[in-house]
Amino acid sequence: MDKLVIRGGTPLKGQIPISGAKNAALPLMAATLLTDQPVTLTNMPKLADIHSMAALLDQHGVKRKTQDEASGGQTVDFHAKTIESTTAPYDLVRKMRASVLVLGPLLAREGQATVSLPGGCAIGNRPVDLHLKGLAELGAEVALEGGYVKAQVPSGRLHGGRVVFPVVSVGATENLLMAACLADGESILVNAAREPEITDLAECLIAMGAEIEGHGTDTIRIQGKDKLGGAVHKVVPDRIETGTYVMAAAITGGDVELTNTRSGLLESVFEILREAGVTIEEGERSIRVSAKRGGLKGVDVMTEPFPGFPTDLQAQFMTLMSVANGASMITETIFENRFMHVPELARMGANINVHHSSALVRGVDRLIGAPVMATDLRASVSLVLAAMAADGETEVNRIYHLDRGYENLVEKLSACGANIRRVTTNADAPAEEETV
Ligand code: EPZ
Repeated sequence: MDKLVIRGGTPLKGQIPISGAKNAALPLMAATLLTDQPVTLTNMPKLADIHSMAALLDQHGVKRKTQDEASGGQTVDFHAKTIESTTAPYDLVRKMRASVLVLGPLLAREGQATVSLPGGCAIGNRPVDLHLKGLAELGAEVALEGGYVKAQVPSGRLHGGRVVFPVVSVGATENLLMAACLADGESILVNAAREPEITDLAECLIAMGAEIEGHGTDTIRIQGKDKLGGAVHKVVPDRIETGTYVMAAAITGGDVELTNTRSGLLESVFEILREAGVTIEEGERSIRVSAKRGGLKGVDVMTEPFPGFPTDLQAQFMTLMSVANGASMITETIFENRFMHVPELARMGANINVHHSSALVRGVDRLIGAPVMATDLRASVSLVLAAMAADGETEVNRIYHLDRGYENLVEKLSACGANIRRVTTNADAPAEEETV
């Protein structure tokens, strides 16, 4: 099992290239099941989760060809000429929850699907009831048997329908958006998620011949088609990776330029960070961020669906606030258990009190390096940020979580002066934990 050893105190200076978004690439890969034509995705990130989704598509019968890009990403050709299996088995789904995104495409293309329930994970029990209710609205018959969703379309083809989401759900919106593209008639998704990853998925589906309006708003209209064609689509830059490195530059008192990114993906986050004292200059495809060490001010935050402050940046922001001047109240409204980074930050001297879904962070002058343990993807990277700002040395264990969502993290940070190295230890790897 690997760990990171980090010696803090060095301000990050230089350039960090941003990769394609994990949370866009995953639904885009599922969308390749919707057509018997080839679909090429460029700017694909090289991440463990992407490999997991690729393994799942392989067993569905998708042919795949990958080539490296000069910029560090990958171009991947997917071709689901025929679907060889409509089953997504537990041993693959439990490794990567987003596997549930093959449900909508398989039902739309083949009229049947047997997909393992992903089960809960570290940050919450992560139900998929909204996915299932929505698909039933489009004519699917859904049963739960032995930990699997067994779905079929008695009429042979999904029909259009009106799906109202009581809770904003990124994954359910994506599953229904993909299924509706091949349904017979018009579908309307009400209270749909508005994340840029959904807009990116809709743009790829439109390039494949789908007829979609309203993506990026809370009401999406889809006119179903008999078939979809192929397309070439560039994956949107990863806004969570972008926000993570903005906060890494800020917490170390550095001055960093983020490249290969896009403006307009993090407006609410930048609003909060500027209020906290971070200097951020946004270009069309780059972001310049700087801050003075010890010059940050505590600011309150509540996580919300896009365009609000993203839950996937909550842990990183908490780390930043742990060394700000004053206090910050951070409220997590999306997931029920997303404060697992708190006890680890406390080991490094952070002063944080959790009351239900809110954490009161009182800024301290200095964090102190210590051995800490990663628990989930975004909590892991918040510990890396803390370690880079701390006095002394920190060991971050269980960093397989990091490999799921951050491409070349050590290389990108080292290139900006961070004192960080990856060490392979011979400690037995724990039973692989489920992923978020
Ligand atoms: C996506 O997860 C992201 N994952 C998550 O990123 C992200 O945190 C989340 O959206 C919120 O932005 C991917 O895109 C692969 P949801 P998803 O459905 O789709 C409840 C990361 O770190 N809900 O928007 O699973 C759910 O319990 C990961 O990259 C239901 O009740 O999230 C949660 O409270 C972590 N029933 C809320 O909705 C359902 O059927 C939002 O979940 C579905 C969801």
